[in-house]
Amino acid sequence: MDIEKKISHRLKSLGEYVFFGVAEAKKKAIQAGKDIIDLGGGNPDLPPHPKIVEALKKEADKPENHRHPQYEGIPELRKAASLWMNRRFGVDIDPETEIFILLGSKEGLAHISWAFIDPEDVALVPDPAYPVYQRGVELAGGKAVFMPLLKENSWLPDFSKITSKSLSKAKLMFLNYPNNPTGALAGKDFLKTAVDFAKEYELIICQDMAYSEITFDNRKSVSIFQIDGAKDNCLEFFSFSKTYGMTGWRLGFVVGNSNLIDILKRVEISVNSGVFHVLQKAAVVALSLEDNDIDQVRQTYQKRRDILVEGLKDLGWEVEKPAGSIFVWASPVGTKIAHDLDSRQIANLLIEKAGIITTPGAGLGPSGEGYLRFSLIANEEGLNEAVQRIKLLHM
Ligand SMILES: Cc1ncc(COP(=O)(O)O)c(C=O)c1O
Repeated sequence: MDIEKKISHRLKSLGEYVFFGVAEAKKKAIQAGKDIIDLGGGNPDLPPHPKIVEALKKEADKPENHRHPQYEGIPELRKAASLWMNRRFGVDIDPETEIFILLGSKEGLAHISWAFIDPEDVALVPDPAYPVYQRGVELAGGKAVFMPLLKENSWLPDFSKITSKSLSKAKLMFLNYPNNPTGALAGKDFLKTAVDFAKEYELIICQDMAYSEITFDNRKSVSIFQIDGAKDNCLEFFSFSKTYGMTGWRLGFVVGNSNLIDILKRVEISVNSGVFHVLQKAAVVALSLEDNDIDQVRQTYQKRRDILVEGLKDLGWEVEKPAGSIFVWASPVGTKIAHDLDSRQIANLLIEKAGIITTPGAGLGPSGEGYLRFSLIANEEGLNEAVQRIKLLHM
């Protein structure tokens, strides 16, 4: 039997998954004995706060926590998330109907397309972006139409550039601020424009807030629910992975319009069976941490950001200090190492000649060509060393 022929068109037509390629390149480099500095994936090296791990251990000892989880998440965590949304953004979210606990925000961002996208339907997707929006849409049989994020627009989509043909078929619009990979934030003005635009064209907004707490220079991210009327047509996806260093736990939550939550829930209960209660109970502790604790995380990433951005700037790279996220989005175009290489070739060069793992911008969307994404997941010493190694390539 020719198994290749059996693969669904949906799966066949998906392009490369850039982070799988990055992980493979890292493996090969390690096997080849290279001394690696890994700035590839969005995989924080900072551990969860000790109070979270303590709670995890304590809850693991309780037999009742090992039974089948509740589909929508335990009431304690939904309540804690609702209180956190209020404390953090001043918005009211009903823990009973407006929150659903996810196995990491990634699966929710993929499954939302299963709930709304049929073949021929369109979803508006930022470019460059975290790949799951596009891939979720395509796995559901729909079409992702890119909204380019350009430096001249402060990395915000220009809604006037979306064609009326795309808009007539569009059901979903994905947004992500603080943004991966550009590090940009969106203010209230932009979010209000987005909500108004989405209402005019009957779109559902899925705003990805994975980096909501990782912002720099005393800035704060804004929740879309701070915009009047956003609850009519918006969802916001949060993650425990980045702020709390809990990437391996696979834990997140989605908040918003109760009908939308209910529709997503119909997909979720069909393919998932809730999240291990031990994790959810420890996550309640994460959401009750003091802002001071999170400040330390922000300061750590901010110091790392400054080392890398200043180092690359000195070498002639085009790079700005990101306002948030754990990424630096930098273009070597015009420098000695770029020649006429594209972003994948430059990423390969950095692995081969400097042992530095990055993500090629083109892997995050066509508008990412010419850029590399550096994750701030090495300590200051590692980042200083990375800058020195890149400097040698410029000589
Ligand atoms: C923008 C963005 N959204 C979502 C996620 C996924 O987070 P989680 O671990 O909650 O699935 C990531 C992880 O890299 C991300 O960068």
